[in-house]
Amino acid sequence: MKKRNSLLIGLSVFVVGCLIYVNSGNQAEREAARLLKKAEQAESSLLEDQGDHSAHDPSHNAPIPEDFVVSREPGRLWFVEKPGTEQEVSLPYPPQEIPSPAKELASIGKNPGFVGADACQECHESRHASFTHTAHYRTSARASRASIAGSFEDGKNEMKTGSPFVSFKMIERDARLFQSVSFYGWQCDVPMDIVTGSSKLGQSYLFWHDDALFQTSVSYVTSVDDWTNSPGYPDGYATYSRPVTARCLECHTTWADVREAPNHFTPESVIYGISCERCHGPGQQHVQYHQANPSEKTSRFIAQPASLPRQRQLDICGQCHFGIPKLKDEPYQFRPGDQLSDHYEPPPAKPAGGVHSSNQLTRLLESPCFNQTEMTCTDCHNPHQSERGNRKLFSERCLKCHQPTDCGMEPTLGARLADNCIDCHMPAGASENMSVDTSEGTVFPPLRDHHIRVDRDATRVYLESLAQ
Ligand code: HEC
Ligand code: HEC
Ligand code: HEC
Ligand code: HEC
Ligand code: HEC
Ligand code: HEC
Ligand code: HEC
Repeated sequence: MKKRNSLLIGLSVFVVGCLIYVNSGNQAEREAARLLKKAEQAESSLLEDQGDHSAHDPSHNAPIPEDFVVSREPGRLWFVEKPGTEQEVSLPYPPQEIPSPAKELASIGKNPGFVGADACQECHESRHASFTHTAHYRTSARASRASIAGSFEDGKNEMKTGSPFVSFKMIERDARLFQSVSFYGWQCDVPMDIVTGSSKLGQSYLFWHDDALFQTSVSYVTSVDDWTNSPGYPDGYATYSRPVTARCLECHTTWADVREAPNHFTPESVIYGISCERCHGPGQQHVQYHQANPSEKTSRFIAQPASLPRQRQLDICGQCHFGIPKLKDEPYQFRPGDQLSDHYEPPPAKPAGGVHSSNQLTRLLESPCFNQTEMTCTDCHNPHQSERGNRKLFSERCLKCHQPTDCGMEPTLGARLADNCIDCHMPAGASENMSVDTSEGTVFPPLRDHHIRVDRDATRVYLESLAQ
């Protein structure tokens, strides 16, 4: 039982960003009644199902061996254990079932006009084309062989754990993708429905159980090109019970209809990827107006961030690059021109860790480059293009304000200085905050530090790399 407690603590990191969302009266009641009915149906179907399993039934897993213990936490989670062993499988639904997304569910809220980036293509063709390569556009998608970075090929589709009796295989069956858990001989298939992460560092996968969203046990880490335990998950367990909150979707999707806290959404409503509109405001009115007035050359009903004061420009990026502050109200309410403090609590001074710890806005605030100028994020980043890894291009942006001779390394490096200011002054450090447990040990995906400074250690490492 001790392990289970520590697991729940691990999961609570997640809840830090969780939204306290209150539905208006009647709707909440209707919603609660609907969910209750679903839960009752699930339970009665579990009772009816006992002993009636065909191996090829796409909606059910194999029967659970008789010597296993199946228990249910009051309220929600199901646990499958083999007596005498430490590990367990945790699921938010009856263990024999294979969950699926709720179909044809109408949204309960009103979309404030988000239409997704592809709606901008017809009039902003080249900008849209380059935007489709960005981390923002690609940060979430429906799961498919194309959007999932990890391999489904035999031999490469398996994740072993420290226990010889627990392993995972990523498989495709009946046009759906699954994480197939092998647990002391029992096999349990959990679908992958949604991908999060453009796979720069890695990807995590989510699945629907009716209208509730959960994270899968297995993630993907790019640096080792392999399947691993999701960040914070203990090795050897199959943990499919972590709810995915609105806060998570607010940073990784354009919009979703929130039904109920912490993790109920209308599946068909989700607009995947971060579209233009999270920086320019909902685009529906702009699109309709310009479609109806094709000769109009002056834009209407859309925000141009460059015309906002500096702090308001920074606030746009701060929605998602300012640590993980708690929401004050419902998600997806921020609009260009708003202040962060209109919608978010101040971010925690010490971030919780993980891929989310680099907090660019706070680190940039430490830099003289930023404090002694009117610099914004777009002095260095073009939001409409992927410029990932192009050190020479980023260094040109430093040289808009600096001369090579400002740098004490200029006599040593000469013309080569301009190739890469970045690795010496903004090193990508393997951060203590970020770790992912694998059966072979701990992995640290490196994050780049936005405190621009003289760093002697980074300089030494970079000069050594040049010497090789
Ligand atoms: C039917 C045509 C059409 C569609 C679709 C369209 N736009 Fe525009 N947009 C225009 C026109 C025309 C302008 C004004 C000329 C220009 O700047 O290109 C414009 C200008 C803009 C500007 C510049 C605003 C300024 O003040 O400088 C932004 C930002 C913009 N659009 C964003 C979007 C986004 C985001 C979408 C998709 C949600 C979109 N547009 C879809 C026609 C369209
Ligand atoms: C709605 C949330 C959101 C907003 C608003 C946002 N970002 Fe991001 N940004 C993300 C997420 C999420 C990622 C990680 C995407 C991934 O790799 O999956 C990211 C990644 C990036 C990257 C890394 C790109 C790469 O390929 O390495 C840069 C640079 C960046 N954002 C800059 C900005 C700037 C500048 C702004 C404001 C103009 C901004 N972002 C606004 C959520 C956001
Ligand atoms: C406050 C906004 C925010 C929240 C909340 C958030 N993320 Fe992120 N996420 C980001 C940003 C920004 C990055 C890029 C990290 C960086 O470069 O600093 C990122 C990176 C990632 C990555 C790695 C992407 C890549 O391409 O390597 C994954 C996977 C991810 N997030 C998944 C999640 C999941 C799952 C949740 C919810 C359980 C979540 N995130 C919650 C903003 C957020
Ligand atoms: C991460 C935030 C972000 C995203 C996403 C984004 N933009 Fe922008 N956009 C900006 C900012 C900031 C500016 C103003 C500064 C600049 O041009 O660098 C801008 C400027 C523009 C302009 C005016 C450019 C000019 O030269 O006057 C247009 C048009 C535009 N964006 C369209 C789009 C379209 C269409 C998309 C999606 C395909 C998109 N943007 C996605 C942040 C963003
Ligand atoms: C908008 C102008 C601007 C840009 C762009 C800019 N800087 Fe600076 N930077 C400054 C100013 C102003 C200072 C403070 C005065 C000085 O030391 O020259 C400064 C200071 C520095 C310092 C000294 C820091 C310290 O702690 O004393 C370093 C190192 C530096 N910049 C490197 C860079 C690098 C590398 C880039 C590109 C990634 C960059 N700068 C981009 C304006 C800029
Ligand atoms: C002085 C230049 C400069 C400014 C200003 C700047 N960045 Fe960056 N940023 C960089 C460089 C250089 C990289 C490394 C890019 C690469 O190698 O792909 C980077 C990388 C990133 C990444 C990817 C992080 C990672 O660990 O790989 C994100 C996200 C990001 N920046 C967001 C922001 C945001 C948000 C702002 C404004 C608060 C901002 N940046 C301001 C220069 C800058
Ligand atoms: C090999 C690592 C390295 C590279 C590459 C490098 N720098 Fe430096 N830079 C340093 C070091 C170390 C110092 C401190 C020199 C000293 O005080 O002896 C420094 C000093 C500086 C300073 C002055 C800081 C102060 O104390 O005021 C600036 C500005 C600066 N660099 C900008 C740049 C720019 C811009 C580039 C790219 C064109 C660049 N550097 C490339 C390592 C590097």
